[in-house]
Amino acid sequence: MTISVAETGAPIGVFDSGLGGLSVLRELAKKLPLQKFIYVADSGYCPYGGKSQDEIIARAVAVTDFLIARGAKLIVVACNTATIAAVEYLRANYSLNFVGMEPAVKPAVALTQSGVVGVLATGAALAGEKLLRLIDRHAGNVRVITQPCPGLVEQIERGELDSSATRELLARYTQPLLDAGADVIVLGCTHYPFLRERIAKIAGPKVQLIDTGEAVARRAAQLIAERSGQIAPPAGTAIEWFSSGSPAQMQRVGAQLWGESFRVMALPV
Ligand code: DGL
Repeated sequence: MTISVAETGAPIGVFDSGLGGLSVLRELAKKLPLQKFIYVADSGYCPYGGKSQDEIIARAVAVTDFLIARGAKLIVVACNTATIAAVEYLRANYSLNFVGMEPAVKPAVALTQSGVVGVLATGAALAGEKLLRLIDRHAGNVRVITQPCPGLVEQIERGELDSSATRELLARYTQPLLDAGADVIVLGCTHYPFLRERIAKIAGPKVQLIDTGEAVARRAAQLIAERSGQIAPPAGTAIEWFSSGSPAQMQRVGAQLWGESFRVMALPV
């Protein structure tokens, strides 16, 4: 395969309805330390969880067009809800590769000892057929219980990881899964890994929490290696940050979630 120099230095686009995708970007940056990334937080339209499929597709298209215009060679849809609603549309309408999120139902089913698995996700993700198909395909004899979590994404977007309101929501959403005997809980939204420690406290040491950030990063790294090898700029991971909401808000909460501060530009779409 001929490798174009322009492509080797081209960025990987990563987007989410907000800051949840940072949990995926973290894994991507670990696996691909020499790549450039553009991260788009579509915070002006967050949460996707309460939106119709058509609305989510419209936003996924707007963000994809923006990322392609900035030279993206691969796009990671770092949002379970957008993946479920829009990734098939994106793959059918664009020629570049999209890596999407898939809630970790398959590994959860393999891990459970109690025969009960819980899935925490947004309402829109749970309403999508893609997740139902995933459960149908992998559950076998395991009981898979799904729990929508309205309000949780908004708490994380505000940077309220440990407020009493967040703790109350977490207890309300996690308890029914524990009562049903779940010993594995799937974090089916990319925002939720930021609450992992709080959920673990409620669930106790016998319950395993799993997400798909690492698996998605592995898939993206594999696609990049297939296309061009890991040839890239020498300066280490470089990230450009955009938000369709308030850049100042993203800078404030993003620094808290990412662990260091960065400069955010306004998304023009
Ligand atoms: N991080 C998104 C996900 O993985 C949150 C969706 C939302 O905005 O409701 O589903």
